[in-house]
Amino acid sequence: MSTATPSLELRPTPQVPGLPLIGSVLGMAKDPAQFFVDNYRKYGPVFRVNVLGNKYCVIAGVEAANFLGTREGKESLRSKEFWQGLVEEYGATRMLTGEDGESHKQLRDIMRSGYSRESIKGRYNELVQITDGALKRDWPVGKSVSVLPAMQYMVVDQLGTILTGAAPLEYVKDIRTTILHILNVLVTRQRPKILLKNPQYKKAKSRVFELGEKMIAQAKARSKTIKEEERNLIDDIYHAHLTQPDVMPASDLIVTLTGPYVAGLDTVANTTAAITYTVLKNPDVKARVLKEVDELFAAGTVDEDGLLKKLPALNGAIMETMRLYPIAVAQMRTATKDFVFEGHQIHAGEMIYIATSVPHFMEEYWPNAKKFDIDRYAKPRAEHMQPGVYSPYGRGPHTCLGKSLAEVQIALSMARLFHKLDLELDPPHYELKTKTAPTPGPATSFKVKVKGYRN
Ligand code: HEM
Repeated sequence: MSTATPSLELRPTPQVPGLPLIGSVLGMAKDPAQFFVDNYRKYGPVFRVNVLGNKYCVIAGVEAANFLGTREGKESLRSKEFWQGLVEEYGATRMLTGEDGESHKQLRDIMRSGYSRESIKGRYNELVQITDGALKRDWPVGKSVSVLPAMQYMVVDQLGTILTGAAPLEYVKDIRTTILHILNVLVTRQRPKILLKNPQYKKAKSRVFELGEKMIAQAKARSKTIKEEERNLIDDIYHAHLTQPDVMPASDLIVTLTGPYVAGLDTVANTTAAITYTVLKNPDVKARVLKEVDELFAAGTVDEDGLLKKLPALNGAIMETMRLYPIAVAQMRTATKDFVFEGHQIHAGEMIYIATSVPHFMEEYWPNAKKFDIDRYAKPRAEHMQPGVYSPYGRGPHTCLGKSLAEVQIALSMARLFHKLDLELDPPHYELKTKTAPTPGPATSFKVKVKGYRN
């Protein structure tokens, strides 16, 4: 009698049919989350797609989301290839998002404190003031406001002040243009390389470098006197440059120092714009949110303890919006070695999309999945607690480093917006239009009417 384990049979991996040359680019550009869900339903957890001549393997579903955090996942996947173009465009040697293993840990350790919730501790009221200033500047009473650009200015104002000590509002457009081009062309590769020759991009990029040089000069000046406990993210990065120049060489300073804008601008602006829509679109949710945000600010100042617990309806609305409008539909990696996933052979060097958002849309985990239901997250339902079903901030070693900071930033910004302003969708029965590049989110045509100040 043989005791040998029978070898597992490999399954053939389906290829999603696409158009000649461009492949599946149209389906992906229209609605990437839906594209991955539809193909997951049709082909199962592993399939291959062609996008503008590039071949990708897609792994999707809860198993794929969970795989990112496993030892095998960490050993089989890396991020380098996707970020290499950006690193080179900045003349750098490496950046946080593109590293894995020990080198990634070194960089994450340098930036952990600067990106943490601690970095915002004691500063909630300052964040409220910055938000009020942004509302006054970009949300005039009686006018129709384009929500996404207004949010972009608010986010740069907040992140600049909290993380780096200054709000470089005059650079917002340049940062946006640079991110847009680099992410579309070099990272997600949805657009042709010729776009990098565009004079508008070149000018914007040189302005971002100018901002980076200014940040270096300021950090250098501060480094002579600053105490360790007073250091912000920028000071920590500059300190690492002085004390561990092999880990943080001069060539890597600009890409690292301007990193918060690349990581935080589109992500938070798209998410807060989407929350503005979902809350205004659902009058019952709006009523519950207004009640609790008015209570939060009734005392005049914000008590920092347990902020999110004091805002259960708003927190539910934020989480539900991030489920239905995820800005990170899939994580991009390369296979470092041959491995088998769900019975499918994946080869070393293959580019992989890990479609972690697919479970967000599955009835199996979220009953009535299309319904905007802010009570899913409270116990006993706690639908998001099922393993692998909810990944708005990604999974595994690259999980968003700014997550707990972003949670406070988003909650306070939305609380203040709804507390202060009387808003209405414009037109009142507007249905959200979305854009997908470089990050999925509401289209710039999404507007709200500022009817007046509530408080
Ligand atoms: C709506 C808000 C946000 C969402 C949904 C979000 C989502 C994500 C996701 C999905 C990743 C992982 C990407 C991957 O695995 O390839 C990530 C990484 C990261 N995020 Fe966020 N993010 C948000 C806001 C922020 C903010 C405000 C900051 C800081 C200013 C930030 C800093 C970072 C950093 C530094 C990384 C890289 C981590 C690493 O590679 O180790 N994020 N984010």
